[in-house]
Amino acid sequence: MYSRIAGTGRCLPDRILTNAELEQMVETSDEWIRSRTGIERRHIAAEGETTSDLALRAALQAIEAAGITPADLDLIVTGTTTPDQVFPNIACLLQDRLGVHGTPAIALEAACSGFMYGLSVADKFMRAGEARYALVIGAETLSRITDWTSRDTCVLFGDGAGAVVLEASETPGILATHLGADGHYKDLLYVPTGPSRRAVTPSRDDGFIHMRGNEVFKVAVRTLGGVAEEVLAKAGVDKTEVDWLVPHQANIRIIQATAKRLDIPMERVVLTVQDHGNTSAASVPMALDVAVRDGRIQRGQLLLLEAFGGGLTWGSALVRY
Ligand code: ACO
Repeated sequence: MYSRIAGTGRCLPDRILTNAELEQMVETSDEWIRSRTGIERRHIAAEGETTSDLALRAALQAIEAAGITPADLDLIVTGTTTPDQVFPNIACLLQDRLGVHGTPAIALEAACSGFMYGLSVADKFMRAGEARYALVIGAETLSRITDWTSRDTCVLFGDGAGAVVLEASETPGILATHLGADGHYKDLLYVPTGPSRRAVTPSRDDGFIHMRGNEVFKVAVRTLGGVAEEVLAKAGVDKTEVDWLVPHQANIRIIQATAKRLDIPMERVVLTVQDHGNTSAASVPMALDVAVRDGRIQRGQLLLLEAFGGGLTWGSALVRY
């Protein structure tokens, strides 16, 4: 038994924050942000709007696209680093809001790789015959952990959610997945505090993203090509067969470097970073949904999905859509 993607969905909050607005908030420029990152705008959740609000809207779209109802689901897996609350986990909150009862509700925290981790876990459940329909979500409200006075990070991040419904299938769908992590790089990208660790002398930036951007950039470029090559090797597929690269949307320069290493021309790369910045775990499923709905990605095509994030963590998947 295999799994295949039956439906996709996405949700961006209504409020758009432009580079021009950021110019009024910190010492930066539209030109700097565009040339260094490719980002033109990002979406910010409204006051009181939570990650599960965004996740629910993306989930309903994916469920509808799959032609099923929430009651058909027998597994929910979420990836987020900005859950509504410590517990119940966001997969349980989502399950309740979908009116589903009794399915496993698995919440994974792997920063920007959260969706790739979720996809791989759900695929394994389905290969084991334990689920017929699985909902996999990547959703974030990174704006809540972004320091809006720090130009080093605030120009990069945004909020959003992306979802896929996986369906059990006798022919593959997901050909292979590959996950990895290296905690040695834990200090390159992190939020310093959590429920069990509070600073002795609390400071205002304890709950914010800290990033050594330049070093993250170099490791990302070094690692991502390899992550993609691993999954191609696992599936026994040559990179020339890939129709679409659907990468984590963090920075256009990282995406260009990865595409170059894989000899994939930018015309075959799904690029959405300009529209919403880095939405962490939401970025790959949102990009996938954009290209499915605008007709670029067609049934039968071969997709290479990959992401990289805090941990450091990484993941890739080779998918026959
Ligand atoms: N506006 C204007 N100038 C800025 C800004 C800004 N927003 N931010 C930094 N600068 C300045 C710096 O101070 C520096 O000035 P100096 O030369 O006078 O010292 C100059 O611009 C260059 O700074 P660098 O940090 O070297 O710029 P770089 O080209 O590396 O770009 C960036 C920075 C965009 C952060 C890049 O390093 C990057 O994208 N890194 C990867 C980030 C990433 O992908 N993180 C997410 C991973 S996923 C996750 O888990 C969340």
